[in-house]
Amino acid sequence: MHQQIIEFIDNLKNAFNEGILVKLTLGKPRSKSTELKNIYIRPIQLKNENVLSFTFRFQTRDEVKNYKLDEAVEVIESYLMQPFMKFHLFTIKQDYELSINKKGKGHLRSLEPNFTKAVIEKHDHQKKRYVNQSALYLHRLEITDGEGRVRPSKNDKFKQINKYIEILDALIDQIPDKEKLIIHDMGSGKGYLTFALYDYLQDIKKINCEVIGIELREELVQFCNDLAKESGFKQLCFDQGSILDNSLKETDVLIALHACDTATDDAIYRGLQSKASLIICAPCCHKQVRKSMKPDVEVHPALKHGILMERQAEMLTDTIRSLILELNGYESRIFEFISNEHTGKNLMIAAVKTEKKIDKNKIQYQIDQIKKQFNIDHHHLENLIGMSSS
Ligand SMILES: C[S@@+](CC[C@H](N)C(=O)[O-])C[C@H]1O[C@@H](n2cnc3c(N)ncnc32)[C@H](O)[C@@H]1O
Repeated sequence: MHQQIIEFIDNLKNAFNEGILVKLTLGKPRSKSTELKNIYIRPIQLKNENVLSFTFRFQTRDEVKNYKLDEAVEVIESYLMQPFMKFHLFTIKQDYELSINKKGKGHLRSLEPNFTKAVIEKHDHQKKRYVNQSALYLHRLEITDGEGRVRPSKNDKFKQINKYIEILDALIDQIPDKEKLIIHDMGSGKGYLTFALYDYLQDIKKINCEVIGIELREELVQFCNDLAKESGFKQLCFDQGSILDNSLKETDVLIALHACDTATDDAIYRGLQSKASLIICAPCCHKQVRKSMKPDVEVHPALKHGILMERQAEMLTDTIRSLILELNGYESRIFEFISNEHTGKNLMIAAVKTEKKIDKNKIQYQIDQIKKQFNIDHHHLENLIGMSSS
């Protein structure tokens, strides 16, 4: 094995043994057709033993497997030649980037560390707690009764909040640490998630954060600000106003859950403008693209049926959103975050800012082709950015 590759593996072993390992990523597949897109590895604790948890990210699904250090090194070594070319090791002392060329020669670079904390999560049989059931805000929002029990009629809402926090937790772990994390929740409504996220980050995860909800409706803003005060949540506040009018000075994480129709585009636009490290939205109704598409039903016979046209419009709306995020330097994924027995609005777009090189021409071509194929006049987000090429 080439010397620089051996050095990289040694750095991984040392970081794991010293407890300074944050994560390791294996990416940039040699072949575009490969099903496995990347592997994300982080240390976790299982039954009082530290192991490495691998998330294998395939085109359409994720697979998680845990390995002891020796086994993990064997698995990583098996991926050194095929299919990946880039390996990134993040530790709190130093980051490393290993590139491997076609001949198997490694080039190792040392970089400034991106992270200041190495957190080893416990994954035992006890279910991880995301929401503090006895919190006052849950009672005031009528999710729980006076004794901290979830009201039977609010079970689905409670599950949904837990699931959101679980997903946000994993996504926030992917962005660089900051002294204070600034989070905006656009269209925060009654604040179910805004409160739960603040409580989780401050109280359970011990992350210093400032969370700001932006909401059109004055009475909800008043209600949420009063409740934040009553809960003693000093760095949580709500501002009245529209998403678009709110030009954010600074934000690290931008969230927009169930913001109606083009309000999701407004939120993504604000996230892009403020160069957020993470943009997360769960789109709600999709009316704009549906109204501005006039596909040829001879070419797309499915679309003569109203319901299928509606679904197609939803898919195209979110595909274009995701492509626009990629075009602007984000790695974007669309996935179902909760089974639709709990809610119909179960699609999430999560975009993490990346330094990777982007083939802008290719992405723009894909956007243009979708618009041409389905005769879409315009997409609201594209108009906001002023990038429409047609
Ligand atoms: C369906 S609710 C979702 C609330 C919350 N995000 C949740 O998931 O529980 C959508 C909220 O977004 C607000 N909203 C819609 N368009 C908005 C805009 N352009 N600017 C600010 N708030 C907006 C609405 O008033 C409403 O409270």
